[in-house]
Amino acid sequence: MKAKKKKGGHARSGRTVRTSQVEMTQVVLPGDTNHHGTVFGGKVMQWIDICGGVAAHRHAQSDVVTASMDELHFLAPARLGDIVVLRSSVNAVGRSSMEVGVKIWSESPETGERRHTASAYVTFVSIDGKSRPREVPNLIPETPDERRRLAEGTKRLAERRLRRSR
Ligand SMILES: CC(C)(COP(=O)(O)OP(=O)(O)OC[C@H]1O[C@@H](n2cnc3c(N)ncnc32)[C@H](O)[C@@H]1OP(=O)(O)O)[C@@H](O)C(=O)NCCC(=O)NCCS
Repeated sequence: MKAKKKKGGHARSGRTVRTSQVEMTQVVLPGDTNHHGTVFGGKVMQWIDICGGVAAHRHAQSDVVTASMDELHFLAPARLGDIVVLRSSVNAVGRSSMEVGVKIWSESPETGERRHTASAYVTFVSIDGKSRPREVPNLIPETPDERRRLAEGTKRLAERRLRRSR
């Protein structure tokens, strides 16, 4: 896809979704669990932040900060010894912000059974050396799913902006 020229002649580059996608694996260790032997929610949030942040960092090719996280529902517990798999992907971009979708599964090492543990949308903002928001490349979707996520993510970015301005 050809980058669109902005007023003033500066062209904004584009990067595909797959260029920045991340798959990350963790093992639930004793220090990650509560007294029931299931993982702390805060630990999962930390992994979400890292997995999502790496996708944003790859897309922007700059430092990024976490601006917000949407509703997070824990659908199933991950237990001590489980393998936790996280996948993140940039869904949509604004000028300097990026919505990253993160999906998490817990996998039993004995049976290989995978359960959807949680999903989240996290907004990251690209920053320059003075911590000011910095423009990010456009997002180039290549599959029907990526095009759908781009349309839905763009809507959510606008809705969040609207909510903050109220
Ligand atoms: C996020 C941050 C850089 C935004 O800076 P700002 O001066 O408010 O900048 P702006 O109002 O111009 O917003 C810049 C972009 O961030 C988006 N944004 C700002 N606050 C946001 C929020 N709470 N949620 C989602 N997006 C947000 C804006 O919509 C805008 O997006 P766009 O450029 O794509 O249109 C700034 O608030 C910040 O540094 N926050 C602290 C981040 C932090 O410490 N995170 C935890 C540790 S990493």
